[in-house]
Amino acid sequence: MNNTPDSVNSNPYIPMMAEIQLVEPLTERETLFRVLLPEPLNHRPGQFVMAGLPGIGECAISISSGLESGPILEMVIRKAGNVTGVLHQLKKSDMMGIRGPFGSGFDLNDFRNNKEGNKDIVIIAGGLGLVPLRSLIIPIMAHKSDYGRVHLIIGSRTPKEALFRQQIREWKQQPDCTITELVDDTDFQVWDGEVGLVTEPIHKLAIDEKNTLLVLCGPPVMYKFVLMEIKMNFNIPDEHIYVDLERRMRCGLGKCGHCQINHVYCCKDGPVFRYSQLADLPEALT
Ligand SMILES: Cc1cc2nc3c(=O)[nH]c(=O)nc-3n(C[C@H](O)[C@H](O)[C@H](O)COP(=O)(O)OP(=O)(O)OC[C@H]3O[C@@H](n4cnc5c(N)ncnc54)[C@H](O)[C@@H]3O)c2cc1C
Ligand code: FES
Repeated sequence: MNNTPDSVNSNPYIPMMAEIQLVEPLTERETLFRVLLPEPLNHRPGQFVMAGLPGIGECAISISSGLESGPILEMVIRKAGNVTGVLHQLKKSDMMGIRGPFGSGFDLNDFRNNKEGNKDIVIIAGGLGLVPLRSLIIPIMAHKSDYGRVHLIIGSRTPKEALFRQQIREWKQQPDCTITELVDDTDFQVWDGEVGLVTEPIHKLAIDEKNTLLVLCGPPVMYKFVLMEIKMNFNIPDEHIYVDLERRMRCGLGKCGHCQINHVYCCKDGPVFRYSQLADLPEALT
């Protein structure tokens, strides 16, 4: 939590008010919001914030920006219902409430090359799953020589739902980086990637399975089939597999129980979990 004595706001229940600098529609349903916070969040990749407006409500939104963005925070918000519907009406220079950062997130030290050698990093994102994983991919790409081979598999339903394509083109220029972009269906639109599900390229991955870290984020149905495909083709230890889960959240602080899966609080213990942590929680991936 961002509650150091000299932080702007040490009460985790009171939002910081952030000024919206950019509102950029990315698809019919998803809009990128870039906001200026009164102070840097100092987040870890994979963490989230509670975003909202006083008197309206708030909802969990993933941090999508990298680590070197200072007080600038980027989020992609899908118009889903009450709160996100109101947030979608906001314009440049309007204010938005932000609490956080919350959750476990990823430790970049796990991903960096070390004296045991270089790691293969496999990141599989389905749909909106790319939004939180972008906060992990940006710092890896910014310091690529500190990391091993990166394999990204990014799936969307149709071309018009594909996110961050320009940035993905830039990532493709990095050394030792292979990116497969797929859509389930071209829906008669122009598409220069592949057609199929994110499970399809998995068997072709050229990885050192004992020295591979696998990261997954996407719709719940994706986890089951991706993990089946991984287990059929590779012997990646469960503690090297990370899943980024989504549950309904209210406090974000492990107090209200809204996000609880048995003894685990998704907001506090997650949303990023090692697969080995979920061995006795089969309902976590449904
Ligand atoms: C850790 C975490 C990170 C998230 N990151 C993002 C993000 O980066 N961008 C984004 O757009 N959304 C994200 N979400 C989902 C977002 O929190 C919900 O879409 C939001 O709470 C909907 O609020 P609402 O008031 O607009 O909708 P409501 O009026 O509450 O509900 C509208 C519809 O959305 C469904 N819904 C509500 N909450 C969820 C949920 N958590 N999961 C699935 N369905 C839900 C409801 O069942 C209903 O059908 C994240 C959720 C979590 C837990
Ligand atoms: S959201 Fe309240 S306990 Fe997790």
